[in-house]
Amino acid sequence: MPGARIAALGHYQPARVLTNDDLARMVDTSDAWIRRRTGIATRRIADDESVVDMAAAAAGKALADSGLEPQDIGMITVATCSAIDRCPSTAAQVAARLGIPSAVAFDLNNGCAGFCTALATVSHSLRAGAARHALVIGVEKMSDVTDWTDRASCILLGDGAGAAVVSASDAGADADGIGPVVWGSDPSRSSAVRLVDDWQPRFSQDGQTVFRWATTELAPLALEACARAGIEPSDLSAVVTHQANLRIIESLVQQLGLPENVVVARDVVNSGNTSAASIPLALSKMVEGLEVPSGGRVLLFSFGGGLSWAGQVVTCP
Ligand code: UT7
Repeated sequence: MPGARIAALGHYQPARVLTNDDLARMVDTSDAWIRRRTGIATRRIADDESVVDMAAAAAGKALADSGLEPQDIGMITVATCSAIDRCPSTAAQVAARLGIPSAVAFDLNNGCAGFCTALATVSHSLRAGAARHALVIGVEKMSDVTDWTDRASCILLGDGAGAAVVSASDAGADADGIGPVVWGSDPSRSSAVRLVDDWQPRFSQDGQTVFRWATTELAPLALEACARAGIEPSDLSAVVTHQANLRIIESLVQQLGLPENVVVARDVVNSGNTSAASIPLALSKMVEGLEVPSGGRVLLFSFGGGLSWAGQVVTCP
């Protein structure tokens, strides 16, 4: 049976920067409060760009970097919860933009855990021989679903996209470039994060419930992803968790007992919480900035609405 690996990455962020001071002119908040409680300094907001524009831009970069041609892609999966179009899917629209002629193309919604869920789903399909090469994209235009009068949530969210070309690999040293997934959901807290859908979907959450859950229950699941990949946390080159809140990230890092040389993604500081886009966006930036060596092992761990989680250890392209 073939394996699967990440062959290339790409990302896209809109140009407009929304600062904490900008938000303080919109709702009753301050730069000091936002930094202290979330670690966020800025986030990017899409004005003219649609979800499809951002997804196609990130995927186009990943495809160019992979050296593959559009016709080589046999599967496209887009993780998103903010895409307004139900049909055609964002994935089908990306296929049209990039001239990918005959790939199976579909969207997947698992909130902030969407990208790791899609990565596992696609790698399982590739291992089963369903395609040789795939695009896995995480994209969100959270600004479309943000309640700009709710100071507890509008300060968190941002827009952007990240994408990976995932390729089947022949059995051998790099066969397990995408390690076994650890995933699940807790239906007892399914209403803790919601897109409340009346005429216009709006993000709403019980922030304290999510915060407590993330800082008390997720570290053992992240450790399980390492164990299932057959490695110790000290073998990792980097950790990229969902970029929800810097305090959650620091708590997870501390509970994982990571040595100092392991690079930790803290893209939340400049990008805010971009939901399903946050992990591929942060990973792509890290690889582009040469912060992680090619062949380095990276723990991806996502969590959010559902409440859901999904994570795996991947090998850097
Ligand atoms: O990706 C989706 C998953 N979601 C998350 O990961 C979010 C996880 N949760 C969090 O990140 C945090 O819970 C928040 C950042 C959302 C909130 O931080 P907190 O430390 O849990 O604050 P809190 O909800 O306990 O509120 C403390 C106080 C309240 O005032 P009172 O009742 O003590 O007077 C809030 O009204 O802070 C107030 N507050 C604010 N004050 C200034 C809430 N938002 C703001 C704000 N500026 N933006």
